[in-house]
Amino acid sequence: MRLEGKVLVTGGAGFIGSHLVDVLMMRGLPVVVLDNMSRGSGENVARWIGHSGFRLIIGDCLNTDDLRKAMEDCRIVFHLAANSEVRAGASDTKIDLEQNILATYKVLEEMRRSETAKTLVFTSTSTVYGEASVIPTPENYGPLKPISLYGASKLACEAMISAFCHMFGLEAVVYRFANIVGSRSRHGVIWDFIHKLMANPSKLEILGDGRQSKSYLHVSDCVDAFLFGLEKAQERFEVFNVGSEDRVDVNTIAKIVVEEMGLNDVEFHYRVDVEGGRGWIGDVKFMLLDISKMKKLGWKPRHNSLESVRAATREILKELKRLT
Ligand SMILES: NC(=O)c1ccc[n+]([C@@H]2O[C@H](COP(=O)([O-])OP(=O)(O)OC[C@H]3O[C@@H](n4cnc5c(N)ncnc54)[C@H](O)[C@@H]3O)[C@@H](O)[C@H]2O)c1
Repeated sequence: MRLEGKVLVTGGAGFIGSHLVDVLMMRGLPVVVLDNMSRGSGENVARWIGHSGFRLIIGDCLNTDDLRKAMEDCRIVFHLAANSEVRAGASDTKIDLEQNILATYKVLEEMRRSETAKTLVFTSTSTVYGEASVIPTPENYGPLKPISLYGASKLACEAMISAFCHMFGLEAVVYRFANIVGSRSRHGVIWDFIHKLMANPSKLEILGDGRQSKSYLHVSDCVDAFLFGLEKAQERFEVFNVGSEDRVDVNTIAKIVVEEMGLNDVEFHYRVDVEGGRGWIGDVKFMLLDISKMKKLGWKPRHNSLESVRAATREILKELKRLT
């Protein structure tokens, strides 16, 4: 598949989306962003506003008119807009159905109708694997048994995308991302710890037993993989795992955040009210993706999990300092 022509980035004012927009714009591609600003921010794309190759549409993927306007003359759709918070489904069981499954269906329907937009790039997740018995987990692992509504919704999206590709002539690349970290991130464990420690620098509440151990990838590596995989994809519907090759546990992340904030004698308190020491209902405790498929094609992450976590902590702290 080729990276050329005008592109649409849904969710392009969010964390990963805005970093992707930066790289697409720097490559000289015309970019349209469609974002409802539920979690995104105009500030993330402020540097491009007024640029002739850039258009920001504040609108919703669930709204056909907004989608139609945003997709006009586009060749590639990077569909990132979603409920990105795994935890949200525990208290609102409809959010993943609407923001992930239904929104993706709307995007696919509009692509089916469009004369130009025939290539979809979709951000899926490691959570589709559930609690895999094979770690590192390869793309062909199965059966896939997600343990969160978020993971279930992304798996449903993948299935629907595959069917649209085979029935209606679309082509798609699906990325199953590990935990992505970096500047502009407004959710996840690093963000959570920084905020708790800003409110109380002597005590840190850790969700779960702290032994949850997962792969973290810096957003720069994520965006790099995004474009690399697209250009290398051979199949009409291609799936790639994207992550780092090691894991880091939550206790280590807590120590890094404490260190980077220059704090001492912080007491760690564990909230272990969810079975198995998980952080929340639906939390997968151990995750590491087998990335050999991407590596064989020539991509590899520049940062490991520890480096990614440390760099992201520094970047977020720097942003927060700038804002205060
Ligand atoms: N961050 C991660 O670790 C990670 C890991 C795996 C997959 N993903 C996926 O990558 C994508 C981007 O994640 P992120 O971390 O940048 O999250 P994010 O919340 O920062 O970005 C999502 C963006 O989509 C927008 N949005 C949400 N619903 C919308 C709708 N109906 N219409 C238009 N815009 C809408 C939000 O305002 C936000 O700007 C998501 O699909 C997420 O599920 C993220």
